[in-house]
Amino acid sequence: MALVGIVGWRGMVGSVLMQRMQAENDFALFEPLFFSTSNAGGAAPAQARNETKLVDAHDLKALARCDIVLTAQGGDYTHAVFPQLRAAGWKGHWIDAASALRMQDDAVIILDPVNLPVIKNALARGGRNWIGGNCTVSCMLMGVGALFKAGLVEWMSTMTYQAASGGGAQHMREMLVQYGALNAAVKPLLDDPASAILEIDRRVLARQQAMGGAEVAHFGVPLGGSLIPWIDKDLGEGRAQTDALWGVSREEWKGMAETNKILGRGEGFGSAPVPVDGLCVRVGSMRCHSQALHFKLTRDVPLADIEAMIAADNEWVRVVPNHKDETLRELTPVAVTGTLGIPVGRIRKLAMGPQHLAAFTIGDQLLWGAAEPLRRMLRLLLEA
Ligand code: HSE
Repeated sequence: MALVGIVGWRGMVGSVLMQRMQAENDFALFEPLFFSTSNAGGAAPAQARNETKLVDAHDLKALARCDIVLTAQGGDYTHAVFPQLRAAGWKGHWIDAASALRMQDDAVIILDPVNLPVIKNALARGGRNWIGGNCTVSCMLMGVGALFKAGLVEWMSTMTYQAASGGGAQHMREMLVQYGALNAAVKPLLDDPASAILEIDRRVLARQQAMGGAEVAHFGVPLGGSLIPWIDKDLGEGRAQTDALWGVSREEWKGMAETNKILGRGEGFGSAPVPVDGLCVRVGSMRCHSQALHFKLTRDVPLADIEAMIAADNEWVRVVPNHKDETLRELTPVAVTGTLGIPVGRIRKLAMGPQHLAAFTIGDQLLWGAAEPLRRMLRLLLEA
């Protein structure tokens, strides 16, 4: 039975991963060896069988015993451990949620319902580094991958509405504390139906503008009752306005780079990349990333054909009819959170012409955006 090292299983992504592996009975397929960065020697979780003690996650010899290492520990850990492990001659499979290795030539971005052929091809060539994609990109491709596969996308613009969870657990807490503070600031007025709405609004704004210190330690500014149109690093910092990366956030850059890499297109695959670009925005939802998409199609295709193609692509995608009732019921973060479903709705042609298509899609960024592709890759390796 394969020995699988599991690192970072206690964090937010790791915990969702553990829940999913438990629900799918994955632990029956291998012997788990649980690692820890802070509690080596402590008790391993209930899924452990023979390896009942936590092992130091920086212990290269212990890691090298594993046939497969599955990590949701984060990029710093990957940078600290992975190069040394490979340098020491370890030939096992490395499955990683972090972006650290994603764009390396010998790494495949894993999203098997979308790119199983790319994964199989790499496996046949001896590939051993399997990296989960950016959550926004993975959720988007689970929804509309069919259009890319059919060669229908000349370019795509994606304007995102990304949840607090993308920043991490502390970011979610911070946002909820902010919401609570705003409510507390106007509670007596809310309880009085006769109070003036503009007075409520004034007090909320005053409270938001007064937020500082620990109240905005993670996002930098209030997210509760507001939004933040910048996610991750500024790739354009210090560049001239004429440089291609001027004004681009790292999250936005990933959109095109990772979409094409997942699909096996662009540089490194000998074909032209499909342009994918847009602005990434943090909004006050909990853990679902939403995206408004605008496609320029390579040809005019009837809407019914487009809907059928999207719906048939995989077992998780669902076309939501473009009506108000269904949209309100099925196409919101609240409707999608905690499920593997990927609804795609608001599908219609835009006023710019018959080759311009709109769609709106939502995905739980901790499931298809993080944990699910990893556990499915583990299964693919175990069942290969
Ligand atoms: N970078 C994403 C976000 C999450 O901040 O929403 C991880 O892919």
